[in-house]
Amino acid sequence: MISVRRMQQQALRVSSRSAFPIVKWMERWTEGISASPEATKQQAVRTLDDMPGPSVASFAWDLFARRGLSRLHELQLAGVQRYGSMWKASFGPILTVHVADPALIEQVLRQEGQHPMRSNLSSWKDYRKLRGHHYGLLTSEGEEWQAVRSLLGKHMLRPKAVEAYDKTLNSVVSDLIAKLRLSRHPHGLVTDIAREFYRFGLEGISSVLFESRIGCLNLVVPEETERFIRSINTMFVMTLLTMAMPSWLHQLFPKPWNVFCRCWDYMFDFAKGHIDQRLKAEAEKMARGERVEGRYLTYFLSQTGLPMKTVYSNVTELLLAGVDTISSTLSWSLYELSHHPEVQASLRDEVLSVLEGRRIPEAADVARMPLLKATVKEVLRLYPVIPANARVITDRDIQVGGYLIPKNTLITLCHFATSRDPAVFPNPDDFQPHRWLNKDQTHHPYASVPFGVGKRSCIGRRIAELELYLALARILIEFNVKPDPKGVSVKPMTRTLLVPEKVINLQFIER
Ligand code: HEM
Repeated sequence: MISVRRMQQQALRVSSRSAFPIVKWMERWTEGISASPEATKQQAVRTLDDMPGPSVASFAWDLFARRGLSRLHELQLAGVQRYGSMWKASFGPILTVHVADPALIEQVLRQEGQHPMRSNLSSWKDYRKLRGHHYGLLTSEGEEWQAVRSLLGKHMLRPKAVEAYDKTLNSVVSDLIAKLRLSRHPHGLVTDIAREFYRFGLEGISSVLFESRIGCLNLVVPEETERFIRSINTMFVMTLLTMAMPSWLHQLFPKPWNVFCRCWDYMFDFAKGHIDQRLKAEAEKMARGERVEGRYLTYFLSQTGLPMKTVYSNVTELLLAGVDTISSTLSWSLYELSHHPEVQASLRDEVLSVLEGRRIPEAADVARMPLLKATVKEVLRLYPVIPANARVITDRDIQVGGYLIPKNTLITLCHFATSRDPAVFPNPDDFQPHRWLNKDQTHHPYASVPFGVGKRSCIGRRIAELELYLALARILIEFNVKPDPKGVSVKPMTRTLLVPEKVINLQFIER
């Protein structure tokens, strides 16, 4: 009986997932049967030995010889075509199980336990150990992670607490608009928009962390800011490489590891410099008998009695988490809107009608802008900043899709593949924000989860969304955004995060 079902599944997988939704449904059904508790009781649970996947040599060839590291998101789609919803592969020294079906991703996340572990992020952790730094929220685990998550959650996850940042963020958006005006070439062309949006992302997250401005959107950008942004970019490029190389190879080919460490050194120094400066100013105020009333995250963190090393590492990690994520999402949003003028016009109408003559939206206005929210959802479906997330279940073996996954196995959650799955999202490569507003079209809740789900999901989600909504609404009020007349289509690439492969140039025509 088992072998018949496996043969059925294999046969169905041979057919392209994209071509026949009915086949896809049957495949899901057979998978569903094998995953259901009833069926699991009847059949012997399969092990990793039974799981399909490329040989170590062929996957290494794909990764290193065929520029696969920057195409990891595409390898997810190829994996689904070749092996179905689950397959195993060896990423350097790490064996990982890929899961590329919303229902199976749900199975993993529902078993993640009390203190979920994302992945070992081995090279990030090795760097911190080497330098004696503490871990921040991205890298810490267990009780240590839980303690900081609970503290930060009060200020980053509660809707009212986040809404209170709208004035601060709006002043950063005003500077972005002014900077876009200044950066325009003839015909309103702004070249390499991601460059401006990196600076916007860094200024935005800094304003929330320090309640002060650090000059990223000034006419002359401080060199230390540019270097911080370069360090983040290079560190992300080196992350995959340093994790895929066994540590003994770091001795033989030291360059990637050394560059990676230098980037982190700079990022930690940058964050520490800003924190120390800010806290010193507060201490001086107090010494003068003035009232200190911090409403910024670094202040909240420093008041909790955490060791300063923990404050430094958390602020460093929050700073870096707020730059590429915002820049990529904003770049893709405007890229897609420039190619879909009808959606852009509807979105502008929505914003203008809610604002009734005002030119600056507030956080509370966004609740009445469903198309704005749907646009960001759609952009993050097409271009999930984190194209593959991960989980490691450390305390027990779990079952997923009828397979027994031993504890401590790295499970890669293929979000790029699920969010481009034609059986879930018809015409998956098309930009259609309205699909999120159509009540008749429902999607599996785990098919597009760009911020993750559950206890370990993105803690910056509310801040990120507010920043994106405020920036997009204002840009559309001020400008008609058009594609570069000489522009070519831009595809995404993986650099740990999903970013545009080429520079995006757009016309910002004054309205
Ligand atoms: C479009 C913007 C963003 C996207 C799509 C995004 C996405 C994600 C995802 C997928 C995760 C992993 C969740 C999981 O493992 O389940 C994550 C974690 C995290 N994000 Fe974001 N993020 C964004 C912006 C931000 C911003 C602006 C910040 C900082 C304010 C931030 C801070 C973090 C932190 C600290 C974590 C780790 C949380 C933990 O382990 O407890 N993110 N993000």
